[in-house]
Amino acid sequence: MKLEGKTALVTGGDRGIGKAIALRLAEEGANVVVNYRSSEDTARETVAEIEKGGRRAVAIQADVARLPDIDRLVAESIAAYGQLDILVNNAGIEKHAAFWEVTEDDYDTVLNVNLKGVFFTTQAVVRRWRELQQPGRVINISSVHEDLAFPNFAAYAASKGALRMLTRTLAVELAPMGITVNNVAPGAIETPINRNLLADKAKLDALISKIPLGRLGQPSAVAGAVVFFASADGDYATGETLIVDGGLIRNYHEQ
Ligand code: BGC
Repeated sequence: MKLEGKTALVTGGDRGIGKAIALRLAEEGANVVVNYRSSEDTARETVAEIEKGGRRAVAIQADVARLPDIDRLVAESIAAYGQLDILVNNAGIEKHAAFWEVTEDDYDTVLNVNLKGVFFTTQAVVRRWRELQQPGRVINISSVHEDLAFPNFAAYAASKGALRMLTRTLAVELAPMGITVNNVAPGAIETPINRNLLADKAKLDALISKIPLGRLGQPSAVAGAVVFFASADGDYATGETLIVDGGLIRNYHEQ
């Protein structure tokens, strides 16, 4: 086990990629805080699965788009186990719309979770690490779209592009404190965020035809990359993005 004695907070840890990360961190020996926004049931199930495997887990409701929620989440997470070593900023949302139809509301919703949420959750945790003079690991779940254009998802792509620079900047600024900051950038993974796409066979086939490995990824593949950055294996990596996308972002062919 690579994370024995460690404690991790996973935002949006109740479902999809976040759930796989929470389970995997626990398998590696960590105690886990499973943050969720709206679905207490899925959070409880995730906690129960972790406990079944012999690790400790708690579910904490908080909307990372709201600063008072973030402060409470971080305080309660630290109170739960008396320590926090790993922050996984996983919570994220996307909204499909042509650029000229994006509303201010939709823009704010996406940016507030995907960027502001990561920014201030990390800030709240780093403030505690500073007080305690302890090192830490921050892992952000970004996307291939921190680099790759994503038509009809302009706000989402903008949030992930910003996340790339946030990670690079914080990696440098926080390195003297022994804090590493890295991104894991998934491609097309089978999760609830892809609900609409998965239900549309023509769209799904078109997407799969662009993925060199010829299939969608599983959430567990993303979780494995998170363990790398969270564990001793990844202790000299910072400011980095690890892409987990079946080759999607590198795909180019001439017929
Ligand atoms: C998005 C998915 C998309 C995938 C590949 C992810 O960041 O959340 O909706 O299918 O990138 O384009």
